[in-house]
Amino acid sequence: MLCRLLVRAGAEVQVVMTAAAKEFITPLTMATLSRRPILVEFFDPENGAWHSHVSLGEWADCYLVAPATANTLAKMATGVADNLLLTAYLSARCPVLVAPAMDLDMYAHYATQQNLRSLADHGVRIVEPASGELASGLEGKGRMAEPETIVRAVEELFAEKKKPLAGKRFVVTAGATIEPIDPVRFLSNHSSGKMGYALAEELAARGARVTLVSGRTALATPAGVERVDVLTAAEMHRAAVEAFAEADGAVMCAAVADYTPCEVAASKIKKSDEGDWMLRLKRTQDIAAELGGAKGGRLLVGFALETDDERAHAVDKLERKHFDFIVLNSLRDAGAGFRGDTNKVTLIDRAGSEELPLLSKRETAARIVDKIESCITK
Ligand code: C5P
Repeated sequence: MLCRLLVRAGAEVQVVMTAAAKEFITPLTMATLSRRPILVEFFDPENGAWHSHVSLGEWADCYLVAPATANTLAKMATGVADNLLLTAYLSARCPVLVAPAMDLDMYAHYATQQNLRSLADHGVRIVEPASGELASGLEGKGRMAEPETIVRAVEELFAEKKKPLAGKRFVVTAGATIEPIDPVRFLSNHSSGKMGYALAEELAARGARVTLVSGRTALATPAGVERVDVLTAAEMHRAAVEAFAEADGAVMCAAVADYTPCEVAASKIKKSDEGDWMLRLKRTQDIAAELGGAKGGRLLVGFALETDDERAHAVDKLERKHFDFIVLNSLRDAGAGFRGDTNKVTLIDRAGSEELPLLSKRETAARIVDKIESCITK
């Protein structure tokens, strides 16, 4: 059915079967449906023809494993290469989709879930199985997704490939960090995270894979974005450095505390009537400056929020932190700044500056991502 739908949609389908799959459906049926001889072995035992998994991997625009058994998923996740399906997977340069199908307990088992997570972390798309009656007679999650659902997942993948930032990975930092003083008090700032979240959403909508390293906000995670929640500047530093290692660029939108208490009290600090209370603070690490130092050819976009001498400070940051461009927010402009839904910014790079009008944060994000796109495709 799946094969027939794909052929009907205009796809050229080359079926690769495992030895076990031949027990369920005959090669002749699959060859008839796909209008091509199916492949099972590395060699054709009849005529000795060699089926190159490398050329299969290069030929395909999409590699779909359906149904994907617990056994095949485990082998894919660990790099086992004992049949043609697996060697073709290891050589595939195209996007890979798997449609798991197995008994409910096998699907729910930690080992299967771990394998699926590991595959997903490496870019394999999972077409979630459906719930219902299973081959074992049991009821539950494990039945292969409907063929129409799988075809839709393939179509979505091709639609995404056409997006301008498809295949690019970005890190976005957003929101305010929280620096604890004691178990009940902290130092923070007014950042709502709205601008960073709008940027993550816009980057994802244009096909990028986005890791959003988020300080505390009340906002919902934008669709298609992987969110990592952090509290302190030190935690944000750790998460951003880790995510940047695999990224093509980063947008540093977070309002990171510049100072953090030297010590965090283990219990609530009591007030006293004897004199002032002195809180000793130490500098936090500058995440943007550190990524800037290690960026190589990757793209780095910074933000600057200034109250005076705005442009000079922004240009200084552009250089010091090795940004490709910087987005200057001025607190003087009505409608710009922290909690609102609008913003008025100036984009500054080494060639000059562009002042944008007062726009919604989503529209501002779209203009910033336009510039990111033009930097990347230059
Ligand atoms: O120096 P300043 O804090 O004004 O720089 C602002 C830019 O640097 C923003 O892009 C902000 O996200 C980033 N930044 C950072 N880590 C810090 C301080 C600022 O990434 N510790």
